[in-house]
Amino acid sequence: MSERLLGSGVDMLATAVLLLDRCLVICDANLAAETLLGLSRRALVGTVFPTLFSEMQGLDEQLRFTMDAQRGFWDNDVRLVRVNREPLHVNCLGSPVDMPDAVLLLELRKIEQQVRIEREALQLTQSQANRELIRNLAHEIKNPLGGLRGSAQLLEHELDRPELREYTQVIIKEADRLQMLMERLLTPHRVPTFGDVNIHEVCERVRTLVLAEFPRGIGIRRDYDTSLPDLCGDREQLIQAVLNVTRNAVQALLGPEGVAWLEACGASGQITFRTRIAWGVTIARERHRLALDLQVIDNGPGIPTEMVDRIFYPLVSGREGGTGLGLTLAQTFIQHHHGMVECQSEPGRTVFRFLVPISERPGAR
Ligand SMILES: Nc1ncnc2c1ncn2[C@@H]1O[C@H](COP(=O)(O)OP(=O)(O)O)[C@@H](O)[C@H]1O
Ligand SMILES: [Mg+2]
Repeated sequence: MSERLLGSGVDMLATAVLLLDRCLVICDANLAAETLLGLSRRALVGTVFPTLFSEMQGLDEQLRFTMDAQRGFWDNDVRLVRVNREPLHVNCLGSPVDMPDAVLLLELRKIEQQVRIEREALQLTQSQANRELIRNLAHEIKNPLGGLRGSAQLLEHELDRPELREYTQVIIKEADRLQMLMERLLTPHRVPTFGDVNIHEVCERVRTLVLAEFPRGIGIRRDYDTSLPDLCGDREQLIQAVLNVTRNAVQALLGPEGVAWLEACGASGQITFRTRIAWGVTIARERHRLALDLQVIDNGPGIPTEMVDRIFYPLVSGREGGTGLGLTLAQTFIQHHHGMVECQSEPGRTVFRFLVPISERPGAR
């Protein structure tokens, strides 16, 4: 095997990195480059880079120019056509380097991956801004509520006609309801306590709770990868997150639309808990070697297209009587674990996917 020019840390990167010499021969490649190009490092090293493609939209000329001019370049959306394979759409970054053989460092980033990372980063920023807004709003509402409730109680004592109590009771009860809602909005800021958590115990707990709450009309299937190592996490928060998502699935299956949908399909309501190991995932711009991939899948009618982009926002609900907080809280709890929840939905198959890094010990975010 040829000598490694790239440091071993480069293998951790999600971006494909290649080193080229004067004749555009590959001198070294990282793990992501092997994956992207579908060739081992052994096969890549010694190959003239442009011969890998039948069409590369002038990238080869660009590379030669970069070498001659000793200036970096950035090229958006280059289409690399390979024989008998899907073409690759990548963003390219080329920089001159001064190494024993290599003169050019080429970074290739698959476009979908970039779009996904940007979307996640945006989602994270938005949800942080949301949380901030909610916290402030909840505090503002909570304070006068106490005064409102107290005054209604005083008023009630002064009332000489008992039938008027009906009105003060409405004020008191509604103030209590709002108070509870505000408490729920403020609780996710409790600092999580981390310990070793077995994700299958979490799933089993949720399964028991949900089946006790909804004894008829749904089945929960398990498809576990039992070789998954323990997570370092807050057990209660993980249970709550999975529970919120699973409850939604049940409500979608047992709601009027769900019932009509299942009847039309001739199917029964089915939820699946699926666990797998994910290698090399990027969450909020951070690369993790190992992550838990837990999917909660249901065969219900799906989430309406116009709603699907907003379901993680607070107070967004498509359900009669819903608070629209379930998914916001689930996302917050999973973010405490440096993970994320994402959703894909079509009629007949809705998947909520939890990605939680396993390898490192998370701190509170
Ligand atoms: N599995 C699912 N199938 C269909 N719709 C869903 C599913 N999960 C969530 N939703 C939609 O997302 C909305 C938001 O969920 P959530 O944040 O838990 O609030 P709530 O359950 O209080 O409405 C739900 O009201 C529902 O319309
Ligand atoms: Mg809910």
